[in-house]
Amino acid sequence: MNKVAAPQIDTLVDRAIAVRGNAYAPYSNFHVGAAVLLSDGKTIITGCNVENASYGLSICAERSAICQTIAAHPIGGELSIVAIAIAAEPLATPCGACRQFIAEFGLGILTICVAPSDRSTRSTFLAKDLLPHGFSKNVMDD
Ligand code: THU
Repeated sequence: MNKVAAPQIDTLVDRAIAVRGNAYAPYSNFHVGAAVLLSDGKTIITGCNVENASYGLSICAERSAICQTIAAHPIGGELSIVAIAIAAEPLATPCGACRQFIAEFGLGILTICVAPSDRSTRSTFLAKDLLPHGFSKNVMDD
């Protein structure tokens, strides 16, 4: 499944906004939610940012959601990641580490960024455009 239908994106955005409420961000107070859609068109896995008193240990919502996805589903066989929605206020695009993490699972992954206060305004990118000239496993094939 390559094309993601508008209702699926709306649901994905809703889930990212909802899980943002669980963000543990007492240091930055910047709450982020992320929701991953799988290629079956219906499985959604969510994650939020989780900070730590040792600041560098904090994990972003996108990587949290992708780790949850990998733990729950056998990605790489039948299933793949087709989209990820990210909810932050104001709207934010993924950090560099998260771009690398998303790209690992598909340069065609649709990345939808939204602010809960205006969920109809979205910035949408393909993973390949978020990480031009990125490092990939292909480099190690030679
Ligand atoms: N954060 C995310 O969850 N995703 C991003 O793409 C950028 C930043 C989190 C990390 C940290 O908990 C807070 O936002 C402030 O940087």
